[in-house]
Amino acid sequence: MPKTVFVSNVLPLEARDLIPRDIAVDYNATDTPLPRGELIARLRGKDGLICQIITTVDDEVLAEAPTLKVVANVAVGFNNIDVAAARRRGVVVTHTPDVLTETTADFAWALLMGAARRLVEADRFARSDHWTRWQWDLLWGADVHGKTLGIVGFGRIGRAVARRAAGFDMRVLYHDAVRADPALERELRATPTDLAALLGESDFVTLHVNLTPDTQHLINERTLRGMKRSAILVNASRGPVVDEAALARALREGWIAAAGLDVFEEEPRIHPDLLPLANVVLAPHIASASGETRLAMATLAVKNCLAVLAGQPPLTPVP
Ligand code: DGY
Repeated sequence: MPKTVFVSNVLPLEARDLIPRDIAVDYNATDTPLPRGELIARLRGKDGLICQIITTVDDEVLAEAPTLKVVANVAVGFNNIDVAAARRRGVVVTHTPDVLTETTADFAWALLMGAARRLVEADRFARSDHWTRWQWDLLWGADVHGKTLGIVGFGRIGRAVARRAAGFDMRVLYHDAVRADPALERELRATPTDLAALLGESDFVTLHVNLTPDTQHLINERTLRGMKRSAILVNASRGPVVDEAALARALREGWIAAAGLDVFEEEPRIHPDLLPLANVVLAPHIASASGETRLAMATLAVKNCLAVLAGQPPLTPVP
């Protein structure tokens, strides 16, 4: 029987071209999430699914797709997939780590710098009629160099963020369930720290955890109140790690100074209390969005799918 793959959203031609001609491809060339009924219908009889985080693959979807052997997510995060249900049903789930690490770390720094130096406010001001002269006290921000950076989640991306901090001569604290190798801690000049102490001591707190029941609302009213009033929070992990309503209050009432967010609890909705605030930089979930990286993610997802269909181990299964 020839194999069939469903590509549920737009994917670069270079990546799709890797699929051999004897595999039939059903390609949905749009970038909008498919209605659930259509997803289920188009998965019928398919061996592989290549999907993005906008596609929810839960137990019910999997139950309707008994021929499915692999779900290849074009993302490092995989909270859109019920991995336990997939395993129970013998479906391999893969993701795209490594290829997006540096790009995502770059963007976390862009958020950090943008929030610290008020770049978005500055851009708006420079374009407006309000800029009439050089001003001594115009748009003062916070220094980054020499400060303390707290990294919550010290996996690939958290470590890449830490590596960049050396250039800013920062003290680096990290919090993770698993302690890093001491040699790596020395190389990155990063000190393991419990969460409360990290939040209390850091000038910048950047989040790089997976979304799990343990990390849902890890940043909430209590933890926000444990941060410095001058602190800046960065989130380029998953939206639900932060209680957005509490964060909006923290920013409005000055419990912390500013934030840079790439992810939101109910994307594409942003909590309405965040929208009017000048001290938050908002981005539409684009941390991995460089042309090179998006192509690398697409290519890796296709290779993962093909490996499983060929009866080989995938390159990057979800852990
Ligand atoms: C990821 O890879 O998990 C990003 O959030 C989506 O590109």
